Amino acid sequence: MSVPRLCWLMLLPSLLAAQSRDRNPHTSPKDVAEGRRMYALFCVFCHGMDGASGRGARLATTFRRHGTSDLDQYRVIANGVPGTEMSGHFLEEEEIWRILAFVRTLERATPHGACATGPGSVGAGRTSFVERGCLGCHSVGAEGSGRLGPDLNGIGAARTREHLRDSLSDPGRSVAPGYRTVLVTVRNGGGEVRGVLLTQDEYTVHLMDGGERIRSFRREELSGIQFPGGSNMPAYAALAGTEMDSLLSYLCSLQGGALR
Ligand code: HEC
Ligand code: HEC
Repeated sequence: MSVPRLCWLMLLPSLLAAQSRDRNPHTSPKDVAEGRRMYALFCVFCHGMDGASGRGARLATTFRRHGTSDLDQYRVIANGVPGTEMSGHFLEEEEIWRILAFVRTLERATPHGACATGPGSVGAGRTSFVERGCLGCHSVGAEGSGRLGPDLNGIGAARTREHLRDSLSDPGRSVAPGYRTVLVTVRNGGGEVRGVLLTQDEYTVHLMDGGERIRSFRREELSGIQFPGGSNMPAYAALAGTEMDSLLSYLCSLQGGALR
């Protein structure tokens, strides 16, 4: 038997054990402390040390879009959520369980702290969402057809209230993945075109301009390509207190439905 195959067979029981174990076996205070240390390395950037201040889903709540059982959450941490910023983590099985033991302490710390908890009315927020023309660039599931910005269905599950506030008042501070701003200058007086970068390769650049038109350029047609940073979304810094609160409550209510 070749060596690689032997290694695989030795690994197999531990993979199966991870799948079949449905309760976290590592929940002692020592495990929690070790989990906290690893959380600070791998998770804090998106979830915050309190589980509520990062750009990712709020963990300081008992709501879990992907299931509340130990095994559900083990799988999310190990495998990630496809199509989102939540990627899988190549960690040892015990390490994932210990991180989960710490995550459980966050959830208990604020039992009712879902994104939607906060001042402002969901109904009033929805009205200003429509009146402010947000649907011109966004969709919410089947509603609206704006394509310049991301679909916002589920945004309340994927982001904290604090991050959403920043997204509105200062969109350039953290740009949603896949929505990088590009500015190209076309040779021979063709002018400048600004938009959201779709794809680029050695020969071509494709972008969506402000009118949602897909524009493709050969690199040789261009005298410049810039990535000015910042967002294609206007800043809504002037939104007054109550309106901002209501808009946030509305966005927080967009939980995308429980997926499991
Ligand atoms: C690059 C950002 C990022 C990092 C790093 C990250 N997450 Fe996430 N996480 C997210 C996002 C975004 C979501 C929401 C996914 C979705 O749309 O359902 C999420 C979802 C989750 C969920 C599911 C929440 C639910 O409602 O079911 C858990 C649990 C979780 N993350 C834990 C962790 C842990 C533990 C770590 C570190 C090992 C980690 N995450 C690292 C961004 C991140
Ligand atoms: C001119 C087009 C445009 C308009 C109008 C617009 N947005 Fe955006 N929005 C974008 C783009 C592009 C992005 C992605 C880049 C970024 O994250 O800033 C975005 C991102 C966002 C995000 C962050 C998404 C994430 O994954 O973090 C939120 C929340 C949001 N918009 C809400 C709103 C609300 C609420 C309104 C109305 C008050 C609005 N937008 C109006 C274009 C627009």
